[in-house]
Amino acid sequence: MRKTGRIGVLVSGNGTNLQSMIDAIERKELNAEIAVVISNRPEASALERARKKKIPTAVVTSQEFPDREAFDQKLKALLEEAHVDLVALAGFMRILTASFVRHYQGRLMNIHPSLLPAFPGLHAVRQALNSGAKVTGCTLHFVDEGVDSGPIIGQRVVPIQKTDNEETLTERIHSEEHKLYLKGIQSFFDGKLSPKGKGL
Ligand code: GRF
Repeated sequence: MRKTGRIGVLVSGNGTNLQSMIDAIERKELNAEIAVVISNRPEASALERARKKKIPTAVVTSQEFPDREAFDQKLKALLEEAHVDLVALAGFMRILTASFVRHYQGRLMNIHPSLLPAFPGLHAVRQALNSGAKVTGCTLHFVDEGVDSGPIIGQRVVPIQKTDNEETLTERIHSEEHKLYLKGIQSFFDGKLSPKGKGL
């Protein structure tokens, strides 16, 4: 029997990674529960995806919490209230404070649309296309205090085709992200991942 746990998912946008977690849990391919979905943007479609499945949601905005420490304290309070075992960043477009990251060290994951350490930061797919690279992909990693750094849990390679534009390449990267995230979460709950990211 695979082990299970509670996930807190932080989002800002569309939420296709969240949707793939929801679907995999429903299909019993992922043995986990989404305890809460938190967005910093009230209009994020990801919130709608969660609400449709009666998953608890919360919104924390920078208007409400202009101070970064206070913002992250609020996040932490919501995650604690939901008794989460793992925090999964899925398109969460904010940099978390060092104290938040330290608190969740080894149980805070992020997915990034490039083969890190190549193309960190914003517009990773555009960066890859503009660089002339022949392959790119996605990276699942534990979050540390840097931007898109931290121990790498897993990566998937996506070849760049001559005819690719940002949209077509993003779509193929996304479908690899979804599979990689599910694998990483299950391995985490199965106790197979070391805090250094080894074990997938
Ligand atoms: C993904 O490309 C992920 O790598 C990046 O943000 C995007 C989120 O997409 N961190 P979605 O909201 O899960 O569709």
